[in-house]
Amino acid sequence: MEDRIALEMIGALSAARKATHLYPPAHPKYREAVADLVSAVRECVVEGPFTLNVHLGRLYQGSRVLPSDAPGAHAMAEALEAHRVESITLEPDASEHDAITLVEVLAMRPSATLEVAAELARRGASAITIAEFIDEDAVDAEERDRLREQDRALYKRLLSVLRTLTAKIQETGEPNVGEAGAIVEGILARLMDDGAAVLGLATMNSQNESNLFHSINTMIYALILGNELGIPEEGLSSLGVAALLHDIGKVAFDMSDPIQAEQARFLHPKVGADILSRLPEQDRTPLLVAYEHHMAPNGAGFPEREDGYVTHPYSRMVAIADRYDRLTTAKPEGFALTPDQAVIQLLRDTANLLDQTLTRLFVKSLGVFPVGCIVRLTDHSVGVVCASGADALHPRVRLMYDDEGIALESPRELETAEVEVGIVEIVNPDSLAVTVSDHL
Ligand SMILES: [Fe+2]
Ligand SMILES: [Fe+2]
Repeated sequence: MEDRIALEMIGALSAARKATHLYPPAHPKYREAVADLVSAVRECVVEGPFTLNVHLGRLYQGSRVLPSDAPGAHAMAEALEAHRVESITLEPDASEHDAITLVEVLAMRPSATLEVAAELARRGASAITIAEFIDEDAVDAEERDRLREQDRALYKRLLSVLRTLTAKIQETGEPNVGEAGAIVEGILARLMDDGAAVLGLATMNSQNESNLFHSINTMIYALILGNELGIPEEGLSSLGVAALLHDIGKVAFDMSDPIQAEQARFLHPKVGADILSRLPEQDRTPLLVAYEHHMAPNGAGFPEREDGYVTHPYSRMVAIADRYDRLTTAKPEGFALTPDQAVIQLLRDTANLLDQTLTRLFVKSLGVFPVGCIVRLTDHSVGVVCASGADALHPRVRLMYDDEGIALESPRELETAEVEVGIVEIVNPDSLAVTVSDHL
């Protein structure tokens, strides 16, 4: 087929679309434009189906590129792309109704909810086939939301298992770890797949059940560190359960009573170890970690022990995870540190509280801008760090506010390295009155 026929068809389509905007249907100019289109459509399907494609702003008839300076070509390419149409195929039996309907639908304002193929079908234009662009970003966002829901469900199940476990110990003194091990394995599997998503979970918190959230978040941070250290899976699951139960001794105290809470502070390691000594399992790691997680490498901390006592490496790892979660969680008596401030504090703590080598490793795994940091970018937009990026200074950011400070309805993710925007500063979530975990 000659280019002429295709170009006439494009010109007629574009003119008819313009006429739809300018004139009422009874207007002679509108009727003239439609008549031209109908004859152009008839001519182009004489030899069989006619397909018009658009790719990167250029129109193609089949695989042949059409001159972009032809009348209407530029406008049509733009209109098709705006409607996410990749190709239009007109069948030989295309009718006047089909042609008019195509023009009417392409004259509609493009929107996320307008699907050209569905709209044509709804209006009975049966001899036109549309191929739509697949919006990769939308597909990715959908998948991300699905996984996020799954991850949150896992977190909630763990909360409920811990709730039951706590109540059981308070009632009978017997620990029953039950389902917890299996859920820890589930979280571990997700961590291997997408560590950033699991780190995002650890930003969750609640004033009411702060101890339960603290246990799970400490577990997540301990697993991140254990994974960075290269501990094999079996060891990680033991580390995870131990981290989850590190503060279990607190269940023996009424934490709403200030006197008991103060006692719990120093006694919970011993009480916890005592409770966990009743576990039927062979693995003694949870007991050791509960007992040792407040012992500093330099002999400080508690409970007291003889000189030369060496703590289990898992206890030292849980101590770091525990500290990081406490630093980044707001307490009734004070503000939370932002993740970057907490990282600096951890490094300071290596002087007397924490294992130096393991802390450095943990800090390395969190990165310069840890997941959960709210950042202002060079184009003035604001978002939350949701994963590491191409390099330490360019993490992946989920935008929350655009460059004019307007909250985005559907969050967009940005590889800051790819779009060459930098981070200007870290913003305190309190100053924006946002809850970070809502955005991760
Ligand atoms: Fe503790
Ligand atoms: Fe703790």
